[in-house]
Parts: sequence; structure tokens; C-alpha cells
Amino acid sequence: MKNYKNIFSVKNKVCVVTGGCGGIGSVLSEAIHHNGGKVIILDKMKNAKFLKKKIAFYECDLQNENSIKETIKKIIKKYKYINCLVNAIGISNENSFKDNINVNLIAVYNITKTISESMKKKGGSVINITSLNAELGFSNNPGYVSSKGGLKLLTKSFCLDYAKYKIRFNNLGPGYIKTKMTRKKYLNLKERKKRIDRIPLGRYGNPDDLIGPVLFLMADASSYMTGQDLYVDGGFLAKGI
Ligand SMILES: NC(=O)c1ccc[n+]([C@@H]2O[C@H](COP(=O)([O-])OP(=O)(O)OC[C@H]3O[C@@H](n4cnc5c(N)ncnc54)[C@H](O)[C@@H]3O)[C@@H](O)[C@H]2O)c1
Repeated sequence: MKNYKNIFSVKNKVCVVTGGCGGIGSVLSEAIHHNGGKVIILDKMKNAKFLKKKIAFYECDLQNENSIKETIKKIIKKYKYINCLVNAIGISNENSFKDNINVNLIAVYNITKTISESMKKKGGSVINITSLNAELGFSNNPGYVSSKGGLKLLTKSFCLDYAKYKIRFNNLGPGYIKTKMTRKKYLNLKERKKRIDRIPLGRYGNPDDLIGPVLFLMADASSYMTGQDLYVDGGFLAKGI
């Protein structure tokens, strides 16, 4: 009989989390760590909370290609192999089309390409955090919408190019999650109500709501899934009128 016991396990998987000091990335990093994964955070911002734990931190501005190459070289020298990459880096800047594209699309492309090349020997799993903005238009932030729409298809493009190396790429699309990024609108009662009225489960999500889906996409349980979009949005995208 086959052993189905550990199909959801991420134990001993070496996992790079970009944006791992952010609202979503920090929770995912902790959760992967608690489930036995070896977490390495790449972020441009230090977060003291992580320095105390057994989670590695490399300060790295992912807009700098040289910095990416040097950091990944160091990580591979130390850990030998990277099994998983979770891209939780991101910005939302209503005032600059270019900044959104530079971070959410180009920086994610560069880190993903570099790590994917290193995963060719034994395969791996890459999870890109997209958004409802990868499916729908939202006003006043065309750069963010375009960056997430582009990221959605970047994932599918990578999935084709690296399938022969057994590297899987999937998108995880959160709905409205309570973090620094969404705080301003959340604190505005009118804006908050507008969003909650549109969500079938009737609440904002928490970063914790993303843990199960991320562990699933990292683990063998999802071994025949690649190029997919998994939305964790309280039903937002399922709703018509
Ligand atoms: N919060 C939400 O409701 C929500 C919804 C859908 C999608 N998302 C996406 O989830 C991801 C995480 O969002 P969050 O809410 O945790 O945001 P956040 O602002 O709390 O975290 C983003 C992290 O990315 C890091 N970062 C930004 N630019 C960087 C760079 N050039 N180099 C290295 N690190 C950089 C920041 O330092 C920060 O730690 C983003 O891609 C965001 O677009 C968030």
C-alpha cells in the first residue's frame, strides 16, 4: 500500500520567501517554519521579529539584479538546494505606474528566473502571490492591476518553460487581506463596508487564511498542479450581482 501520510508535509524543504517581512510574507514564513520547512527570507526591510527565530534573513533589494545573483549564490552555497520559492514581495503605488511594474513584475521575474535555473537538478515549487487585480479591473491604480495581470501570465509562461525540469509554478490570489497594504481603506468605514458587502463570506481575510493553500502548493499533495490560479478571496470572484 502506498504511504499517503506525508503528502502535505513541507518538512526539510528549503524555502525562499521574498517579501517575508511583510504582512502576508511574515505569517507564511512562520507557518512554513512551524511545519518543518527551512525558511530563508529575502526582503529589503529588516524585521527584528525574525532575527530571534530559526528563520534566515538576507537583506536584498530585489530591484537590484546583482544583489539577487550574489544573494542566491550565498544561499545555495550554504543550503545546497532551494526546493520552494514563495514570492510575497509587492507594492501598491497609485502614483507611479512604473514602480508597480518594476517591483511586482520585473523584480519577481528576476528572482524567479535565477532560482528556477538553480532548481533544474531536482525540481521544485514556485508560488507567486497575485491578486483579484489579476482578474478584474480596479480604478485609480492601473500600474498595480497591470502588474498583477502580467504576473498571472508570467507564472504560466514559466510553468511551460520549466515543466521538463519538474519545477511547478502556481499563482495564489488573495482577496482583501488585513495588512499594512490594505489598512487605509480598512480604516475608512465606508470603503470597508463597500468591500465586505461584496464578499460572500462577509469579512476581510487574515494572512493566516493563506497558510493552508501555500503549504498545499509547496507539498507533494499538489504534485500534478502547475500553471494554476488558486484564489483565497472569501468567494469574491464567484459573485455576480
Ligand atoms: N494585503 C492584501 O490584501 C493583498 C491582496 C492581494 C494580493 N496581495 C499581495 O500580497 C503580497 C504581500 O502583500 P502584503 O499585504 O504582505 O504587503 P506588505 O507591504 O506588508 O509586504 C510587502 C513586502 O515586500 C517587501 N518589498 C517591497 N519591495 C521590495 C524590494 N524591491 N525588494 C525586497 N523586498 C521588497 C517590503 O519590504 C515588504 O516587507 C504582495 O504581492 C501584494 O500585492 C496583498
